[in-house]
Amino acid sequence: MDALITVLPGDGIGPEVASAGVSVLEQIAQLYGHKFEFSEQLIGGAGIDAENDPCPANTRASCKESDAILLGAVGGPKWSDPNASIRPEQGILALRAELQVFANLRPVNTMDELAEASPIKTDRLKGVDIMVVRELTGGIYFGEKTRDQDSATDLCTYHRYEVERIIRVAATLAQQRRGILCSVDKANVLETSRLWRDVTTTTLAAEFPDLDSEHMLVDAAAMHLINRPSSFDVIVTENMFGDILTDEASMLAGSLGMLPSASLGESTRGLYEPIHGSAPDIAGKGLANPCGTIASAAMLLRHSLNLDEEAAKIEAAIHATIAAGVRTADIAGDSGHYVTTEEMTQAIIQRLQ
Ligand code: IPM
Ligand code: MG
Repeated sequence: MDALITVLPGDGIGPEVASAGVSVLEQIAQLYGHKFEFSEQLIGGAGIDAENDPCPANTRASCKESDAILLGAVGGPKWSDPNASIRPEQGILALRAELQVFANLRPVNTMDELAEASPIKTDRLKGVDIMVVRELTGGIYFGEKTRDQDSATDLCTYHRYEVERIIRVAATLAQQRRGILCSVDKANVLETSRLWRDVTTTTLAAEFPDLDSEHMLVDAAAMHLINRPSSFDVIVTENMFGDILTDEASMLAGSLGMLPSASLGESTRGLYEPIHGSAPDIAGKGLANPCGTIASAAMLLRHSLNLDEEAAKIEAAIHATIAAGVRTADIAGDSGHYVTTEEMTQAIIQRLQ
């Protein structure tokens, strides 16, 4: 298969992990006889530095022509002046909106071998296999903002169609998994959450009557994620709750560096990125964990290119590498023995063969 992939390294550890993802995809192309063409473009702080734009026109154009996009991370202290009107994060948000990738899939799995790396008690981690479906192009992230000297506002808006379409994605995934859907909101306080709950109830009753589903308030969900994580199958929630709950859930997997994500819309074109940030404190030191990005590359193959076997191969290689005891610094635990980003990547590539 031929495919065009836009690569957006971004800032901080972004370039290191993006390059790891590309190396793995190149190896897959070679092993399976595919032709992947990569177009590297600017995003975030890198875009601001070069073109005073966190999502330059060339980047948008390349993404729109591509079958899929692999992104590293954006942001850093250099561009974090609270008074700045242009910020790296605007690049990612603009891209998500422009590509209309409203469904952000964030799988959270616990590998037994990484239980040590998690701050949560090991007995809670058995069998954790959660798919968080985060609404990605609506809510408070995209509402009107105002600011004066002494006050500020962020508007949170949801429309019926936005809730319907994300619930369909989540419910369909639940059907393909263990058939349990948990919709998370704050319906005891927020009007948007009451709409969310109404639409969810109606959509599920009409289109997914056999699904085992429940509503849960976000504060309770935050607690249950730690207390009984293995009871969750698919969690669906609005944009900001999904952002927060997935950083929390990453502790079940041992490290934020382990988690991948896929952002999908109506077409097969998707945006793939690890859920971690740009970690400027460790940038350029070879300390970053490339697993989240490499697992994102696997999701890219599965969801945008329909290459299930290749995707599963990558996931198995990551697991085998972890099982063999290879660790980056973030998951090394007390052992103190760890390898570099590049060594971890090569260890995974070796296991693809
Ligand atoms: C994420 C990140 C982004 C978000 C930031 C960088 C804008 O935290 O993808 O989870 O909040 O969506
Ligand atoms: Mg986040």
